[in-house]
Amino acid sequence: CGIVGYIGHRDAYPIIIKGLQRLEYRGYDSAGIALHDNGLKVYKKAGKVSVLEDFVKDITLNSTMGMGHTRWATHGAPSDRNSHPHSSGDRKLTIIHNGIIENYAVIKETLLSKGHVFKSDTDTEVLIHFVEDIERETGLDLREAVRVALNTVIGAYAIVIMSADDPDLMIAARKGSPMVIGVGHGEYFIASDATPIVEYTKNVIYLNDNEIAYISRKDLLIKNIDNTVQTPYIQELDIKLEALEKGGYDHFMLKEIYEQPRSIRDCLRGRIYPGQGKVQLGGIKEYVEKLKNIDRIIIVACGTSWHAGLVGEYLIEEYARVPVEVEYASEFRYRNPIINEKDLVIAISQSGETADTMAAIELAKEKGATIFGICNVVGASIPRTTHAGVYTHAGPEIGVASTKAFTAQVTVLTLIAFYIAQKRGAITQSKLIEYLTELDEIPTLVERALQSNDHVKTIAEKFKSSNNCLFLGRGSSFPVALEGALKLKEISYIHAEGYPAAEMKHGPIALIDEDMPVVFIATKHSSYEKVISNIQEVKARGGHVIAIVTEGDTEVKDMAEYVIEIPQTGEAFVPLLATIPLQLLAYHIAVMRGCNVDQPRNLAKSVTVE
Ligand code: G6P
Repeated sequence: CGIVGYIGHRDAYPIIIKGLQRLEYRGYDSAGIALHDNGLKVYKKAGKVSVLEDFVKDITLNSTMGMGHTRWATHGAPSDRNSHPHSSGDRKLTIIHNGIIENYAVIKETLLSKGHVFKSDTDTEVLIHFVEDIERETGLDLREAVRVALNTVIGAYAIVIMSADDPDLMIAARKGSPMVIGVGHGEYFIASDATPIVEYTKNVIYLNDNEIAYISRKDLLIKNIDNTVQTPYIQELDIKLEALEKGGYDHFMLKEIYEQPRSIRDCLRGRIYPGQGKVQLGGIKEYVEKLKNIDRIIIVACGTSWHAGLVGEYLIEEYARVPVEVEYASEFRYRNPIINEKDLVIAISQSGETADTMAAIELAKEKGATIFGICNVVGASIPRTTHAGVYTHAGPEIGVASTKAFTAQVTVLTLIAFYIAQKRGAITQSKLIEYLTELDEIPTLVERALQSNDHVKTIAEKFKSSNNCLFLGRGSSFPVALEGALKLKEISYIHAEGYPAAEMKHGPIALIDEDMPVVFIATKHSSYEKVISNIQEVKARGGHVIAIVTEGDTEVKDMAEYVIEIPQTGEAFVPLLATIPLQLLAYHIAVMRGCNVDQPRNLAKSVTVE
């Protein structure tokens, strides 16, 4: 979910609506706002932010303090009544919330027995009634009542509360869900991430877990929930406004696909010196000794980041010769994993906020492992929790389906593989010079891979009405196949599966018929001949073969119905190039099917609940 708030001297409504639009990638089931205008005015609607905008367009909204919320449903279906803000019984208090209050049922029961009446099915409404109840029963002021309530609730939250009685106070608090405060002159901005704030101020404070901020126009006081005053640390944001706009593209996703030559270049900048055979990773340099002595690497991540982790497994094992396991963070955290001080855990997360990945990190930390993060969002929770890490520097990714963040994660993992290889003496200097020279060329080759766009569009036209699609690859192209399938299913709602090409004959082969497109990654590398045999198996059953091949390939061209060429590169770098046409394929098919590619149904970009 996305949270935005404003208190100051400007008209709050436009700031809040714009902020919600910027945050919409965090969830878009419903949206709502609350403004302080001689008491509290609350408006909320199921659907996108634009539905809410329409709903309030004829209402005069005069206020210099307010907040808004865009929701990704957890408790209760998306509906007007389950939308945030939620108010206490007498509408004196109102709240927006991101996260889950786990013990809400118990609290609700007590409140029901005291006569509280609830209008929604949400845990959030319970929390605001609870605060009101504490105020009433104990005579504490709102600030204290919120603190007492937060000491009782179990779960994760980022909340903002306003009171009808106080036109100069907003209370924000966080535990496990991100919250940023923008500091202006006589004004403050509150948001789940910095994107709604950048155009007003560069100065921000990231709230820490268990902190409560009491914000008025003149000042800001931060305490922890034990009531100790905290000294805020103001940081400067490094996000450019253009990065948050579509810049002439029809969709953020397409813009971000096309940004990849630049984002990979940014990711490599200052980190490789091909001529000298040197990889420099400032964020982990303190851990060189550790890296020489680790026994094993465990990669934890979710979604697309998990796919990047699988590519990392191939690269690290191949070049650094350290055993790697890749785990879904959500599974790892609940299965009493065997970890010790000789393990290195690498957590990968674009947003740096994914709840399961955070929990996996905490667990591994408790067990004594060293934790590295690979994140895109600077200052997010994961990079702040890990011991060390490497930022991907892909710039803000707004499209819900990850594209440039994935290739940047793979780039960082490639760098880490070579870095460890070098430190452990697993690679010769001459080989490293050769690999780094090739890696340095990748941004230019990605540019060339993007030139397949029109051709991919033609293929998309042909297969846009398919119901199923299979993606096959071997070696490090297997995770690329998984990612290709995920992209297609996420944004076009076509059922798609990624499989190791050889494993297809143990199951998915049963699905192949004349309606089934099968996408192969069949570049000229170690398993080329084997993949060709797999292509024959599909052809023999009437499947339509689309193959991603190395430029100039003639053998596969004779077999496949369509080929998409990518430039020749070393085996290590194929994932960075082969991913590009698959992103374009998913994009064009989804657009042709009339889907909302930037905000696919039911998904959200940043999943801060488990
Ligand atoms: C969500 C997004 C995915 C993303 C996953 C992990 O499901 O829709 O695109 O891969 O979360 O997110 P993270 O920010 O941890 O990489």
